[in-house]
Amino acid sequence: MNVKIVNLNKWYGDVHALKNINITVKTGMFTSLLGPSGCGKTTLLKILAGLESPDQGEIYFDDQCIFSKERNINVPPQKRQIGMVFQEFALWPHMNVFENIAFPLKAKKMHDGIEKRVEAILKNVRLEGMSKRSPDQLSGGQQQRVAFARAVIANPKIVLFDEPLSALDAVLRDEMRFEISQMVKQMELTGIYVTHDQMEAMSMSDQIVVMNKGKILQVGTPEEIYNRPANKMVLDFVGKSNWFRCGTKAIRPEKIDLYPTGPYKKVSGVVQSVAYLGEKYEVTVHIEAEGDWLIYHNRRVQLGDQMDLYFKHSEVIHFSD
Ligand SMILES: Nc1ncnc2c1ncn2[C@@H]1O[C@H](COP(=O)(O)OP(=O)(O)OP(=O)(O)O)[C@@H](O)[C@H]1O
Ligand SMILES: [Mg+2]
Repeated sequence: MNVKIVNLNKWYGDVHALKNINITVKTGMFTSLLGPSGCGKTTLLKILAGLESPDQGEIYFDDQCIFSKERNINVPPQKRQIGMVFQEFALWPHMNVFENIAFPLKAKKMHDGIEKRVEAILKNVRLEGMSKRSPDQLSGGQQQRVAFARAVIANPKIVLFDEPLSALDAVLRDEMRFEISQMVKQMELTGIYVTHDQMEAMSMSDQIVVMNKGKILQVGTPEEIYNRPANKMVLDFVGKSNWFRCGTKAIRPEKIDLYPTGPYKKVSGVVQSVAYLGEKYEVTVHIEAEGDWLIYHNRRVQLGDQMDLYFKHSEVIHFSD
């Protein structure tokens, strides 16, 4: 289902939580809302789900207007065909896996073929044979898969995620990122995923919406956001970068070379710090004219070493102010 959000505004008293939000999400797309704490991500998800009402604006699911302040339209949550997965898995502890997953069907009085549907979805989320277990007999990742199964059992068109992986450890989180985006694609759902983790947004999404303080800073593919950030805040928020002293130009560390090939610009500096990351060394070099820059090296260098750095002019990212 296509989702279109038009000129949305939301206030909580004096707090302008969402400022003129415009987003289009195409059917089958996986979109992340990325931004720091308090920027309005959860508020926007709740508004899509119908759990909060905006003060201005309109929302369309395909051609149907599901919310319009001006026209007094507000389709209730249960009629929006939305599934939700939250940070706290929020499985009901007194129900087993089967009962947890079947709950939305029972709530909607869809009693026909419940067993078959739960069985099919259990297969999808790779939890076959676990229907009788209680949530406390499952690992964190398995619990999160149950939460996902419960969110999609009633055939929603859109599934909303609010930081669903933040309670998991790093290894499991990596695995689940891939699984979640795969499952969403397989089931041909439209996914909207809230996170403040840029790696998560970059690795999972077709489209990223970068937000700060209730505003959208940029909408684009992960590559566009990374390579052509719309402003300084996006650049600083996504990936690492080195600023030139003038304050309007920056360069990513991986674009800086240790040897010249072709027409390059050269800067020189002194090694300030070295950190070993396994596949590479992260080195800070103090450059007299520019300040401290981060670069990557494939071998250990010593503090105080003199280094020459080379970069192509075309790799420099420019900002107008
Ligand atoms: N019910 C509420 N009443 C008053 N203010 C609220 C309410 N809910 C959210 N806010 C405020 O609205 C702003 C956006 O909150 P929101 O929960 O959407 O942020 P978020 O991006 O999800 O942050 P986090 O990453 O910490 O979850 C914040 O300033 C928050 O304090
Ligand atoms: Mg939140």
